[in-house]
Amino acid sequence: MSNNLTLDETIEVQRPLHEVFSYVSEFSRIEEWDPAVASAEKLTPGAPRVGTQFRVDLRAGFSLDYEIIAIEEDAGMLMTVDSRFFTAREEILFEETDEGTRVRYIAEFDFPGPLAAFNRLFPSVIDRVGKSAMAGLKEALEDNFETPQASSFLAAADRLVLPGIWRFTRLGYRNSRKRWKAVSAFQGNRHAVITGATSGIGEAAAWQLAELGARLTLVVRNEDKAKTLVDELRSRTGNEQIGYEIADLSLMSDVHALCDRLIEAGDPIDMLINNAGALFNPRQQTSEGFEMSFALLLLSPCILTERLYPLIKQAESPRVVNVLSGGMYTQKIDVDDLQSRNGEYSGSVAYAKAKRGLMILTEEWAGRWEYDDIVVNAMHPGWVDTPGVEEALPGFYKVTKRFLRTPEEGADTAVWLATSSEAAKVSGKFWLDREQHPSHLSDRTLETDEERQRLLETLSELVDSTVPEQDVAA
Ligand SMILES: NC(=O)c1ccc[n+]([C@@H]2O[C@H](COP(=O)([O-])OP(=O)(O)OC[C@H]3O[C@@H](n4cnc5c(N)ncnc54)[C@H](OP(=O)(O)O)[C@@H]3O)[C@@H](O)[C@H]2O)c1
Repeated sequence: MSNNLTLDETIEVQRPLHEVFSYVSEFSRIEEWDPAVASAEKLTPGAPRVGTQFRVDLRAGFSLDYEIIAIEEDAGMLMTVDSRFFTAREEILFEETDEGTRVRYIAEFDFPGPLAAFNRLFPSVIDRVGKSAMAGLKEALEDNFETPQASSFLAAADRLVLPGIWRFTRLGYRNSRKRWKAVSAFQGNRHAVITGATSGIGEAAAWQLAELGARLTLVVRNEDKAKTLVDELRSRTGNEQIGYEIADLSLMSDVHALCDRLIEAGDPIDMLINNAGALFNPRQQTSEGFEMSFALLLLSPCILTERLYPLIKQAESPRVVNVLSGGMYTQKIDVDDLQSRNGEYSGSVAYAKAKRGLMILTEEWAGRWEYDDIVVNAMHPGWVDTPGVEEALPGFYKVTKRFLRTPEEGADTAVWLATSSEAAKVSGKFWLDREQHPSHLSDRTLETDEERQRLLETLSELVDSTVPEQDVAA
């Protein structure tokens, strides 16, 4: 009886050869398209090359260890597979067609002597598993998933607070994850600008986007941290197209100078991720006279986004992603006291009000730029284990630490909003774990039309009046 079994499946997709090769050769993404796979991970750094290893954990309860032994860009790759039950050689061949790309998958399984008897059972199972994997790959590459809809069930759970709040923990992330679709949109020609990229969620987003091959401009305030991070990103992902810009985003003079440099460079912006943030206790004022939360969390992303609009507009599928917080659910915007001058100051309240303001801007920009095809969304990362949370909320951190998400999990929705074709179909919404959530949980936090208008006018005046004098003269 033969110990060998061969699987040979072919699909054709209407996608350029290079995009298909790029998606499939990052083999850890098999978890997005093969229903038999529970999770997969790349074990060696850099772009796929000879020697790159992947671990694939199957839903059946055992792992496969892959190693690339030959690879030719846009042509094919050959991998060895090792597991408890069998070894295999898997070859994936790519070929350009008139319509797009043909992908042929050939796997030769070898069952060791004692397990050879299983061979009689395996052909049909392997054939079925192989066919469903290739159907999954085709669906992932066709990338034509339905527009994500708002769910009345999620909205109702959010309004009941406790059923909504558990979603902020890592349990919520794991629960939602089961429903996610593959993201195969090609990022190799796209430019991302990420603020606050030296720590926590922003840094995790930078790693994910660097892995996807995007060109990155990291906006950071500390040059030493920036240099170290850029070196690490380049060496561990093999992506050389990573640069940085220095700006203290609580200072509007720095924000304007940053905009001037980016506009001067003229590189269209496909993804702007407004992520930099912190929670300030006690009340602090910048050297320019603005209250810190208002300056960093609201005015700064407002100036950055509005001034970079000409570069954003030039991109092919531009996205603006604003990193907000579930804390905004507790507050209404206070247009008469944007800088928390009145009453007793609370850092959490000032933070939540600024995030609420950025949600209003998210909706406003989505409407204003609809015909430029600029998609603007906001997201809540969930409760994430980052230096920012540990420092600003030590009590909360101690109690919730076990339930906090990793920065990678916290960054996921921001990266999805910035990259996926699915997310390009909806604008002006608030998201958690790739799902739409209401932007208000009660009418108590709703601003009136008059308040909204006054907020927009105040911010618009500040965008102009904070331009440093030498720029005005020029
Ligand atoms: N972690 C959570 O549970 C959570 C929940 C909801 C929302 N968020 C939001 O997620 C975003 C990221 O927070 P995080 O938890 O990842 O915090 P983090 O680890 O403290 O990272 C914050 C980032 O913002 C940068 N930053 C702070 N002030 C800046 C300034 N004045 N100019 C330029 N950059 C500045 C920091 O730079 P340095 O490295 O130089 O300090 C750092 O890169 C924030 O907008 C936060 O409000 C977080």
